[in-house]
Amino acid sequence: MATWSAPGKVFLFGEHAVVYGKPGIAMAIKPRVFVTVRKTRRPQRAKSPYIDGCFDAMGVIGSVYINSQIPSSSGLGSSAAVTVATLSAINDEFSVGKSREDIANMAFEIEKTVQKGRASPTDTTVSAFGGIVLITGGSRRRLPPQSLHLVIGDSMVSHSTSKMVEQVADLKKSNPKIVDPILDAIEGVSLAAIHHLSNPKELGRYMNMNHALLDALGVGNPQLSRLVLAARSAGAFGAKITGAGGGGCMVALCAKPILHRVAHAIQACDARAIVTGIDTEGVRKEKNV
Ligand code: MEV
Repeated sequence: MATWSAPGKVFLFGEHAVVYGKPGIAMAIKPRVFVTVRKTRRPQRAKSPYIDGCFDAMGVIGSVYINSQIPSSSGLGSSAAVTVATLSAINDEFSVGKSREDIANMAFEIEKTVQKGRASPTDTTVSAFGGIVLITGGSRRRLPPQSLHLVIGDSMVSHSTSKMVEQVADLKKSNPKIVDPILDAIEGVSLAAIHHLSNPKELGRYMNMNHALLDALGVGNPQLSRLVLAARSAGAFGAKITGAGGGGCMVALCAKPILHRVAHAIQACDARAIVTGIDTEGVRKEKNV
């Protein structure tokens, strides 16, 4: 029996633009998914195409038990975390000998297959390696870790990442002269933000700009706007949609002493608040219990 866990993630900058080869900056965060894999003679098929994809990719059969702290379908990378942790647990239990790099690549291939080609390697890379990662096209670079204090607001409005990605693709096709400059501007914000990762006040300003540009792309939602404004009014340095939008989550960057004030402001808008920070470990082995 082998138990591994992997963290979720937030996009700090560049979601959607990353689908078009622009830079994206994402950070691994504390909620984790725990996966236990066991060799069995009579395995059942899992109910998740991600988990079936993991066993198929590794060429073995076994049973799996999942315990997740990450709300699913919220844009916090739960499917990537499940995939990365499951591959790592299979790798350990069956002594397959894959590296962390191999696991990240395999997890991305599985996500791409399940999501019918609509995935960037962001979630799987961040979940495998932890920390803050800059993704540009096929390349990924770890940025220096920062102790950023975040409050995530889960709007609890359901959304579909692939639908939102498709919606932006349609808008880009019908209005390239408007959408292309918006994607360029998001790229500009992400590139500028890289130089201010240790300056939360400045970083917050860039998050606000990125939010406005995501709204312009049409991935906003009234409840997300409400949460973003509530967080800013409560004193956050900045706040934005994180992930695909249309529902799901927003993220606010705060000074440590006001984290709980911002969390209460988000909860007062009938949303769930998660106070969190960076995870620097990525996927890791857990003691079996
Ligand atoms: C979804 O969390 C972020 C998107 O950029 C899609 C992706 O990067 O796979 C919208």
